[in-house]
Amino acid sequence: MISKSDYLVIGSGIAGLSFARKVAPYGTVNVLAKKTACDTNTNLAQGGIAAVMGTDDTLEEHVSDTLASGAGLSHEDVVRVVVNAGPKMIEELLELGVPFTAQVDHPDLPELGREGGHSHRRIIHAKDMTGQALQKVLAEDCLKNQNIRIHELHLALDLLTVKDKDDSLRVVGAWVLDREGGVVKTFLAKTVILATGGSGRVYLYTTNPDGATGDGLAIGWRAGARAANLEFVQFHPTCLYHPKLKNFLISEAVRGEGGRLVTREGELVMRDHPQGDLACRDVVALAIDREMKRSGAPCVFLDVTHKPSAFVRERFPKIYQTCRLLGLDIAKEPIPVVPAAHYQCGGLLVDAWSRTGVKGLYAIGEVSATGLHGANRLASNSLLEALVMADRGAQAAREEAARTEFPPEVEPPGWPAARLGRTPPEAVLIAHSWDEIRRFMWNYVGLVRSDQRLGMAAKRLAMVKNEIDEFFRNFEVDYDLVEVRNIAVVADLIIRSAASRRESRGLHYSLSWPERDDPNFKKDTVLFNSEPSLLPSA
Ligand code: SIN
Repeated sequence: MISKSDYLVIGSGIAGLSFARKVAPYGTVNVLAKKTACDTNTNLAQGGIAAVMGTDDTLEEHVSDTLASGAGLSHEDVVRVVVNAGPKMIEELLELGVPFTAQVDHPDLPELGREGGHSHRRIIHAKDMTGQALQKVLAEDCLKNQNIRIHELHLALDLLTVKDKDDSLRVVGAWVLDREGGVVKTFLAKTVILATGGSGRVYLYTTNPDGATGDGLAIGWRAGARAANLEFVQFHPTCLYHPKLKNFLISEAVRGEGGRLVTREGELVMRDHPQGDLACRDVVALAIDREMKRSGAPCVFLDVTHKPSAFVRERFPKIYQTCRLLGLDIAKEPIPVVPAAHYQCGGLLVDAWSRTGVKGLYAIGEVSATGLHGANRLASNSLLEALVMADRGAQAAREEAARTEFPPEVEPPGWPAARLGRTPPEAVLIAHSWDEIRRFMWNYVGLVRSDQRLGMAAKRLAMVKNEIDEFFRNFEVDYDLVEVRNIAVVADLIIRSAASRRESRGLHYSLSWPERDDPNFKKDTVLFNSEPSLLPSA
């Protein structure tokens, strides 16, 4: 079955849906959601969107905070583009009806929250459920648009690439597994937009949902797009530590409103840092890791019990209710927390118009590396980046689509008949590969790295990756197998990037190279795929 549209958007979070609604007046859009339209990483975002809306704040200060957090690797031109567009993006969302929390005294103005690394209150939020509010409004807007069709339970397997007239590669669509129908479909388009989010599931502990398996990064890489700065994995300092709920985030906004990190003895964890609990995330997460290693405790605590109980319940309803269901009253007891993988600061390298360099292929949001985040993303800059780059990507894709012929119907080489109906004798082996990768990535490529640890991870990955590839070649395509195949690519790119950065900077901390080395490493880590697959890698 072949489905055609002007734009094919892979991913239905803030990046994908914002892009879709901006190009819809100019052509037809197919949006693929691997689960349901709203089951995305965006939907879980608690904190908010960083943008200069306060009268005492300036764009220059937002730029300067972003550059400071990026530890020398943020691209100032991109930072300025994104930060300057912030207020306009918020206005658009207000017009669309996103219910941001308003100021008590000025109900027509959004309330501004505070998070680590920001010199001012500048986080526009919908209590502690910002992502959910955004996702709902964007999805509703797209669903009523005649030109947009959202395909749920559609998982992209690989991009379709052909040689263009000048012999360069052009992406013309994707091979897609329809999970309900159990068939592999072909989607053709003039431009393809990867908006698949991040890859937190490559680690054992993460704040990300199940679907965050780096699919866009892996399929873009296989199709020849370059990858940048993947060693910079952001570990959020405060993931709930609870046996019954393993990936629940406790928003940085809790510290923004006065929450303090304490040891089990009640000592302040961040007592030695001038910015205290509101230092940048790399600093806070490492401090917690050191404290846990020193004391042997399995977690530290986030204490907000000194704030009025009504304030805690009103400002953080989602966190309050979720913890309450687990028997924890956060207004009365400190919250046990640990760092966990949260955000992929690197990704597919794109220019300031979201173009990957492969014709017809764009990447927006967490899957991309624009140069904004550098070595450490500033809190709440990611939703802002997704909005701005979706807007710019839409302008560029519209121009490209207008001058592009509709792709010839690519005759994909057909899913090998021999594989159809061939289920692996022991599907549990796929689950074992998953567990193995996530565990060694956590142990050897986590917050603290060393040459030895990275070498151990690389050896283990080579073995598991071979086994996964063999499964993929020999058996029927299956959801778990597709995800683990992508996770293995992501792990490989992270390990290789980390091994090549022989210094410590931002989120990359190596015991073998503990100092920052500007003369040699004040530059992006860029990996090239010298063997892109011309047709889907069957
Ligand atoms: C948070 O609410 O702490 C997460 C915000 C972000 O990751 O930017």
